[in-house]
Amino acid sequence: MCGIIGYSGSYSGSFCAQKILLDGLEQLEYRGYDSAGVALQGENGELFLRKKAGRVSVLREACEVAPVNARCGIGHTRWATHGGVNDVNAHPHSCGRVTLIHNGIIENYHEIIAAFGFAGRLHSETDTEVAACLLDYLYQGDPFDALRQAVDILTGSYAFCILFADQPGKIFCIRNVSPLVAAHNESGSFVASDLTALIAYGKSYFVVPEETVMTLSAEGISICDLSGKTVQPEILTVDWDVESAQKGGYPHYMIKEINEQPEALQNTVRPRLRNDLPDFSEEGIPDALLSCCENITIIACGTAMYAGMVGKALMEQTVKIPVSVHIASEFRYDTPLIDSRTLTIVISQSGETIDTLAALRLAKDCGSPTLAIVNVKGSTIARESDYVLYTHAGPEIAVASTKAYTVQLAVLYLLTCRLALLRGCFSQEQGQEFISALLSSSEAMEQMIRQDQMIREAVKMVKRSDHAFFIGRGLDYAFSLEGALKLKEISYIHAEAYAAGELKHGTIALIEEKMPVIALATQEKIFAKTISNVREVRARGAAVILIVKEGAQVDPDVYDIRIDLPVRKDEFAVFPAAASLQLLAYYTSDAKGLNVDKPRNLAKSVTVE
Ligand code: M6R
Repeated sequence: MCGIIGYSGSYSGSFCAQKILLDGLEQLEYRGYDSAGVALQGENGELFLRKKAGRVSVLREACEVAPVNARCGIGHTRWATHGGVNDVNAHPHSCGRVTLIHNGIIENYHEIIAAFGFAGRLHSETDTEVAACLLDYLYQGDPFDALRQAVDILTGSYAFCILFADQPGKIFCIRNVSPLVAAHNESGSFVASDLTALIAYGKSYFVVPEETVMTLSAEGISICDLSGKTVQPEILTVDWDVESAQKGGYPHYMIKEINEQPEALQNTVRPRLRNDLPDFSEEGIPDALLSCCENITIIACGTAMYAGMVGKALMEQTVKIPVSVHIASEFRYDTPLIDSRTLTIVISQSGETIDTLAALRLAKDCGSPTLAIVNVKGSTIARESDYVLYTHAGPEIAVASTKAYTVQLAVLYLLTCRLALLRGCFSQEQGQEFISALLSSSEAMEQMIRQDQMIREAVKMVKRSDHAFFIGRGLDYAFSLEGALKLKEISYIHAEAYAAGELKHGTIALIEEKMPVIALATQEKIFAKTISNVREVRARGAAVILIVKEGAQVDPDVYDIRIDLPVRKDEFAVFPAAASLQLLAYYTSDAKGLNVDKPRNLAKSVTVE
């Protein structure tokens, strides 16, 4: 949450720090978009501060009224945690000689205010301004020394970029948990919350190590640990380009990312196949990890957790191994019943979700081996887990996750196949058949995305309603959870998913005339049962959008709109079903004239608890 960027270099004139910061903030806006600000530093340390409630475009307009031709500066786009959305609470925050931007939460800011008597110096309601006061208080001319002392006092998560008035042209950075990446080229040095803001300036970058102080200047970047010893970061290369992080002719990132799913699925599965079967040896994952565990615990948040629900249903039915799925924010404060016999799988697109990270650390403390399924290379979760399987979706920018979900599923399907082979539940041929069906799921998704007429019809029904239900049994219930989340987060329609058989234990009381019910009935063994449940809601006036496999025999009286999934095997229905539910949410949000890519109150990467 919150996007931060800093630049110190030689660009000047129309290609100055102001432009680099504003362009970068536009790329980072998906991390938070309540307010934005920049601080530009002149050659002699003079400060030009601009901050505005609202989108980066509002800040850009304000900056363009009186452009500043500086070579060094920091910029921030905010997702409000402490204090309302207004100009004063927007970052950067200044106190005395210090101006800074922050991503994270300072947990002990009340204690710091009391201990150092800062109350009279504060203008905003933010925890961040307290950190600026603290640094100004500690600063005696040596930024490293002030930062080292501050680290001992501050608790919480943070990534800071800091300007000191008497250190012109230099940006000092320090982080704990919250992400920061940096890069240097012939034009200067760059730092940002993530690569989307830096990709325009080169392909090499590094993840800023925690517990270090990093100094950026036009000439280069230096890093030292808290004892003053120089640290050499590991240089990484980005494997995607500027176009991947842009809309490429689509009206929104979300629809672009929906369209990218078939390719992302192939990119995630194919490199892991040997003899048409999954093999993780190149990623250093020993077979014993999968063959020796007695049970599996999956931990994640939001969409990633719903991918985990599909993984659970699939693994249990295929491998007969007990799998539990946990919401990361609950798991970390529960009593975790796991030990070395449990394989813990954490799933995260960003690899930075704070609750998932904390749950991962807890699982490790319990002695459980950990495997992360992550999209962002070098992210904290990827680095801290014992083993990692990267998904190859490329950058996902829309707040609503789509292609990340599909590739998370793809990895869970690969893992299921490997587990089944190792535990004698699949012969080689069965494994190969399973993988071939997985690969052909990308074609099914493509077809679904191309033939979206019935989905557009369904949108006309859904967009008028304040409520919608998603129902299904077994795997269908697992998919419908994600369908409901997608609809509510971008169309603001209250949507809930229910296990279809559970409706008559209370929820059916909510069904009224014309209420849209999106019913998934793709699983042969419970098909008749689900259709009975559909009849029950239809008899009470619901407008039924029925999602079934192509060729399914259903009495037309049962539904208002029927959506056919081009798929034969039940286990693989999730892929075209996901595409159809994503499109339903996308077109509904667009038809309501909402901001599809940046829904209200949300941010892409949730780095606060
Ligand atoms: O980066 P992560 O996968 O850890 O993020 C988890 C959730 O915050 C995320 O999936 C969220 O639910 C999406 N907005 C859903 O579309």
